[in-house]
Amino acid sequence: MIRGRDSKRAEIHKLLEDQIPSNLSSYIPHSWWYIGDVLIISIPKQLLDFKQVIGEAFLQVEQGKARSVFGKVGPTRDIIRTPEFTHLAGDTDSETIHKELSCQFNIDAAKLTFSPGNHGERKRLIDIVQKNEFIIDMFSCVGNLSLPLAVNSEPIKIIAAEINPLAFRYLKKNIKLNKIENRMIALFGDNRTVLSEFQNQADRVLFGYFKGDDQQKRLAIRLCKKGGTIHFHEIVPAKEEETDTMIKKIKALIEQEIRTTKEITFKRVKKFSPGMNHIVFDVKIN
Ligand SMILES: C[S@@+](CC[C@H](N)C(=O)[O-])C[C@H]1O[C@@H](n2cnc3c(N)ncnc32)[C@H](O)[C@@H]1O
Repeated sequence: MIRGRDSKRAEIHKLLEDQIPSNLSSYIPHSWWYIGDVLIISIPKQLLDFKQVIGEAFLQVEQGKARSVFGKVGPTRDIIRTPEFTHLAGDTDSETIHKELSCQFNIDAAKLTFSPGNHGERKRLIDIVQKNEFIIDMFSCVGNLSLPLAVNSEPIKIIAAEINPLAFRYLKKNIKLNKIENRMIALFGDNRTVLSEFQNQADRVLFGYFKGDDQQKRLAIRLCKKGGTIHFHEIVPAKEEETDTMIKKIKALIEQEIRTTKEITFKRVKKFSPGMNHIVFDVKIN
């Protein structure tokens, strides 16, 4: 019998009943996610002293599926987006293979970012990419957005840039693991430098990084050929006028590059935090 998450939540609460003071039980995480066989939960600061017993409870309830349990105990930091995860239970090794959309993502789940909430966007891209496109992924990580395109949308050519040596190592491994060496190339370094030779060549540019600056956004515009599309990912307050403001900013950058906006549409990828949405802007330019 397949058990639902509600029944598992109830069991986790039962297991923790005698171990966590009753005034803190409302903080027990009620959601969890997987990267491969690594189960991840967010640990609120009120429960930091109990994080190990919480991890053990999740491991017990998810036995057979979870090999190890890690807790998110702080925000994702720095340019290279290092998540703050700590080991809670099970195997201490956080390297895993996450399977999704016919791809295998080899990744260190505790040291790199891979958002389960972006699954819909990864799938949407597969559906909209056309044959023979040349795609540039400016912020690749382990191939989060572009690997599924290389695997599912042949024939295609992808250049993927990544500045974090650890993420780059997995990106290279994933290209081999998924047998896509003939259509995906990884470039190590700052996208501002390593991508500059591809100006006016891309049918599609993936800008999957909220912290990218205007200089990088202008590079994305320059990389895109006439009639091409850029996918800008942004965190935007959940108010209509804020989305309009963002569209105006993007249009201004396009004008600064002496290019014209053909069409801008947008889509909510996920709720990012209270009052904030992760939005992808699909920007077609001439
Ligand atoms: C938040 S992750 C996003 C990964 C993926 N695009 C996604 O949407 O799931 C951003 C990645 O961009 C990389 N990065 C940040 N600045 C960069 C730069 N200047 N050049 C190349 N990669 C960069 C980081 O190391 C990190 O792996």
